[in-house]
Amino acid sequence: MVPSLTTVVNGIEFENPFLLGSGPPGTNAKVIAKSYDLGWGGMVCKTISLDSSKVVNTAPRYGKLRAREDDKVILGFENIELISDRPFATWLDELKQLKQSYPKKVLVASVMEEYRKEPWQEIVRRVQETGVDAFELNLSCPHGMPERKMGMAMGEDPSIVTEVVGWVKEVSKIPVWAKMTPNVGDPTRPAKAAAAAGADCLSTINTILAIIGVDLRTLRPMPTVEGYSVPGGYSGQAVRPIALRHVMEIARALPGVPISGMGGIETGFDAAQFFLLGAHTVQVCTGAMLQGYEIISKMKEELVKVLTDHQMESVRELVGKSLPYFTTHADLVERQRKAKAAKVGTARDAETWKGEIKKETESLSSN
Ligand SMILES: Cc1cc2nc3c(=O)[nH]c(=O)nc-3n(C[C@H](O)[C@H](O)[C@H](O)COP(=O)(O)O)c2cc1C
Repeated sequence: MVPSLTTVVNGIEFENPFLLGSGPPGTNAKVIAKSYDLGWGGMVCKTISLDSSKVVNTAPRYGKLRAREDDKVILGFENIELISDRPFATWLDELKQLKQSYPKKVLVASVMEEYRKEPWQEIVRRVQETGVDAFELNLSCPHGMPERKMGMAMGEDPSIVTEVVGWVKEVSKIPVWAKMTPNVGDPTRPAKAAAAAGADCLSTINTILAIIGVDLRTLRPMPTVEGYSVPGGYSGQAVRPIALRHVMEIARALPGVPISGMGGIETGFDAAQFFLLGAHTVQVCTGAMLQGYEIISKMKEELVKVLTDHQMESVRELVGKSLPYFTTHADLVERQRKAKAAKVGTARDAETWKGEIKKETESLSSN
């Protein structure tokens, strides 16, 4: 039997659990329609606000990290892009049209406003009339918007998260996803604040505040705009381990709240790991930007392969399956003691590190 990729979250039916994450992949109706045609289960549109005239982007606005300068593989990606600069009225028309043309595809509206109740409630009231399936509140963009007390400036403060999610829940007739920032010490604090205010799902992670590098010819930080730069949002493969940790922590802290996991997903095998740590759907942004919308076919095949290999019939069976295997360090030591583990496992530092550091590191690694 071929396993099924369909899944239901917040009562919304997804033909597969792969969504494109908010960003360039969902900048307008034309590209969103293209992604649906290619087989993505859903789309979170580029974040929209009531007054797009305040949004002004720069070029360049991206930076790439490669293992070596001439490498084709891009490990990490930085952006200093703001939210959508397209007019609100255009977005309303396009969201409506998309829902009419693609009633079975999931359309999530990513929205962001200033720290005041009226604009948040206004954007929610007006956007939900288009027929979108859910909202994703961008409480997490780490660059540019915090200068206007938006994005991460809200998401890093649990009391503001509760307040904003509460305002939205007062007027929203559809599920509300809260998108979390990874730029906090304990990701469960803002996540619990969002859940307490009634968030129906938690999306994580947004980008990690970072500096992609310094140009050694010009000695200027990158991405360089007229000789200057600002720290930006880091994404792509390099952030995946951090994203997995955030998903795991939130899933363990809030077992009843679904998670839409993202950060560095480029294959179905990457996605499977997010499900195993508690995600119910996954989102892909940088992977699609670097490799094209077409990666969806391979990603679906790879996820089906994981399910088949483990004789599972649905994605739901993967969700959270690896969560019980996190414990404390003291417990790991105790388990090894009990299992009379291999000598290397319990060796003291003085016996392990004799000077052949590459070999010794290898002997302590699990992959
Ligand atoms: C160029 C770019 C623009 C983005 N714009 C938005 C945005 O408008 N709203 C938002 O919530 N997240 C935005 N993101 C963050 C992504 O949705 C996602 O949370 C993050 O990049 C991690 O996933 P990834 O590694 O698959 O890209 C953007 C990311 C990139 C790379």
